[in-house]
Amino acid sequence: MAMENFKQFLFALSAAVSVGFVSIIFVLRWVFYFKEGLAWDGGFAEFNWHPVLIVTGFIFMQGIAIVVYRLPWTWKCSKLMMKFIHAGLNILAFIFAVISLVAVFDFHNAQIIPNMYSLHSWVGLAAVILYSLQLVLGVCIYLIPITPTYLRAAFMPLHVYSGLFIFASVIATALMGITEKLIFGLKNPKYKDSPPEANFVNVLGVLIVVFGAIILWIATRPSWKRPSEQVLRSLPTYRDGSAGTKMGTALSQQTDPIDPEGNGDARRRSGKLEDSGQVN
Ligand code: HEM
Ligand code: HEM
Repeated sequence: MAMENFKQFLFALSAAVSVGFVSIIFVLRWVFYFKEGLAWDGGFAEFNWHPVLIVTGFIFMQGIAIVVYRLPWTWKCSKLMMKFIHAGLNILAFIFAVISLVAVFDFHNAQIIPNMYSLHSWVGLAAVILYSLQLVLGVCIYLIPITPTYLRAAFMPLHVYSGLFIFASVIATALMGITEKLIFGLKNPKYKDSPPEANFVNVLGVLIVVFGAIILWIATRPSWKRPSEQVLRSLPTYRDGSAGTKMGTALSQQTDPIDPEGNGDARRRSGKLEDSGQVN
């Protein structure tokens, strides 16, 4: 990654991590300062686990899991190790999401509130189910070594597309959930009267959108992509930690001068790369 490009990457990454952290602080402050805190008692404090675990796990951790291959200082690490980190973070995010669903279903059952009536719950449950499918397929295709290379390659565009699609759906679901909770929860003054809690939580919603926007930006820059194993192996000194700049030279040489950013990914920019496939 050329130096200039590396600085832009660092800027985007620190922006994402900072906005993510601030979102987590906001959801905790919402729950502890404006709401009933956290408990597992069938009441509102149990419901509060739902937004807390979603923002920390299903949004923040999933976002970091998505961009983890793009960190240039990890390009000297083995692909297998990066797969374990990517899969591990996604599995952790999934566990958080499931506990958050248990909390909200348990709360509804304890309070005798019907289940699954809202658009929020429909889209949200669909996202969790698709996410579990993505996890199982990801493990079977990319971690279990028996999967043939052509299958790994064929499935990769679908894996990337569905990963980004699910991530965007999770953010849309969170916005619906936040809106519902503000409408249900604010009685006197009401949501439409803009009490401090309403403004504060609106800002939380905006932060979540900004976090999602930066993650999607990072994950769709072709020039920030982890180089294929073939390119990495062709750089004899990449293990000395200087891979970042050396890689930049290697990759920029492969860039199509007519379409330097391209619409696709780095793989398409060089016939040689496409053959080896960034598929493992
Ligand atoms: C309920 C999923 C985020 C607020 C539900 C239910 C599901 C769900 C499946 C239905 C529970 C039941 O029927 O018993 C999700 C998913 C999210 C998410 C997958 C990931 C983004 C949020 C957030 C909030 C929230 C961030 C903010 C407070 C609510 C509320 C309910 C609820 C108020 C009860 C009303 C209803 O069923 O729509 N959620 N949720 N959700 N969620 Fe979420
Ligand atoms: C790449 C999402 C689970 C293996 C990606 C990318 C996304 C994504 C968005 C593109 C990243 C990039 O272009 O830099 C997800 C989601 C998952 C999941 C949301 C969980 C629900 C898994 C699992 C594996 C896996 C369990 C198994 C090891 C890979 C591989 C790549 C990848 C090998 C290619 C990395 C590269 O370009 O070098 N994933 N993934 N994923 N994922 Fe996943």
